[in-house]
Amino acid sequence: MSTNRKLAVPGAGGPTYMVYGDILRQLFRSFAHRDDASFRAAAESIIRDERAKNHRLLADDLERLLTRRPTQLNGAGLAAKRRDDLPTDKERGFPLIDVAEFDLDWSRLVASSDTLEPLHRLVEENARADLLSAAGLRPSARALFYGPPGCGKTLAARVVAGVLARPLVTVRFDAVVSSYLGETAANLRRVFDFVSTGQWVVLFDEFDAIGKDRDNALEHGELKRVVNSLLQLMDAYRGDSLLIAATNHEALLDTAVWRRFDVVVDFPRPDFQSRVLLLRMFLRGFPHRRVNLESVAKSAAGATGADLERIATDAAKRAVLEGRSTVTTEDLAPALAAFRARPDAQRPADPAPDASDGSISRKRSVRRSR
Ligand SMILES: Nc1ncnc2c1ncn2[C@@H]1O[C@H](COP(=O)(O)OP(=O)(O)OP(=O)(O)O)[C@@H](O)[C@H]1O
Ligand SMILES: [Mg+2]
Repeated sequence: MSTNRKLAVPGAGGPTYMVYGDILRQLFRSFAHRDDASFRAAAESIIRDERAKNHRLLADDLERLLTRRPTQLNGAGLAAKRRDDLPTDKERGFPLIDVAEFDLDWSRLVASSDTLEPLHRLVEENARADLLSAAGLRPSARALFYGPPGCGKTLAARVVAGVLARPLVTVRFDAVVSSYLGETAANLRRVFDFVSTGQWVVLFDEFDAIGKDRDNALEHGELKRVVNSLLQLMDAYRGDSLLIAATNHEALLDTAVWRRFDVVVDFPRPDFQSRVLLLRMFLRGFPHRRVNLESVAKSAAGATGADLERIATDAAKRAVLEGRSTVTTEDLAPALAAFRARPDAQRPADPAPDASDGSISRKRSVRRSR
């Protein structure tokens, strides 16, 4: 990038024009001198310049980073990010959790109102827990996310953590489950001891898949015991964290399990409208004016959010590798054809391709996943 280009930098008496190299100097100098106003002015001119160059993704990201709220990951959270502070499995020394921050907001998650409304409510209750507790009420603290793979459950947990500006603690079940008798229960207790040290969003991702694909795969009975002791610990939890369990095997969960959660959120395959929005989001940053997103979305009935991401990014890569800045319908065709050739595409239980509201009832999605 040339450092001689001139950029407008806002100032009290109107914009001044500086060459790029000088803007970088201003950025570094203002950081060293803790001069926030000057730092912001230089950063904003870089963002405007990137936007003018049509680097929209980068410009949006820079803008978000510049304006985001500082999170609570400064005290206990930051300390816990140091590997030696994380709870570990005593036998093998593996960390039992990951702690991460996600700078995400609602715009990243595309879903129908049936999915979004309970999520908004969950976040609102937890964000305003003080108000509730002044009235003798507690926010919903246990949520179950269910739905087919690739439909946004893990992403939604990250968005919830991002919006609440809390670190996300993800429980690593591969480390939690031990072949030593009693050690799994002890590991779960260690996880809960850690959770009680702060205000986190805690994700028990694929909690019912514990022991699956392991060399020392657990017997069904033992698997059930592990899931049960996890559910008991969740039940007994009275701290300030928000606990989220995610599964794509909801058919395996009995009604007693469903009842233990304050909030249950369905993540079905996206309907037609959501598929259009997802394609648009994943093609954001790549000019694609001539692509008929509606017709691609129709052809992609049954696709998950993850499938649509693959179809869109495959197309973008194809255009970039061929030296074009614009994505065309032809770029989307091969990945779309590969998706349609899959046996799980366009199944009868999926929403009709042109239905605007194809949300799948819980009963149907339960039946499908068997
Ligand atoms: N509803 C959605 N909105 C936006 N992006 C989505 C959505 N669903 C899927 N995606 C995209 O697909 C990726 C994978 O989704 P995610 O990991 O959240 O699925 P999941 O439901 O947790 O699947 P699994 O059950 O396999 O864990 C996301 O990172 C995102 O880029
Ligand atoms: Mg997931």
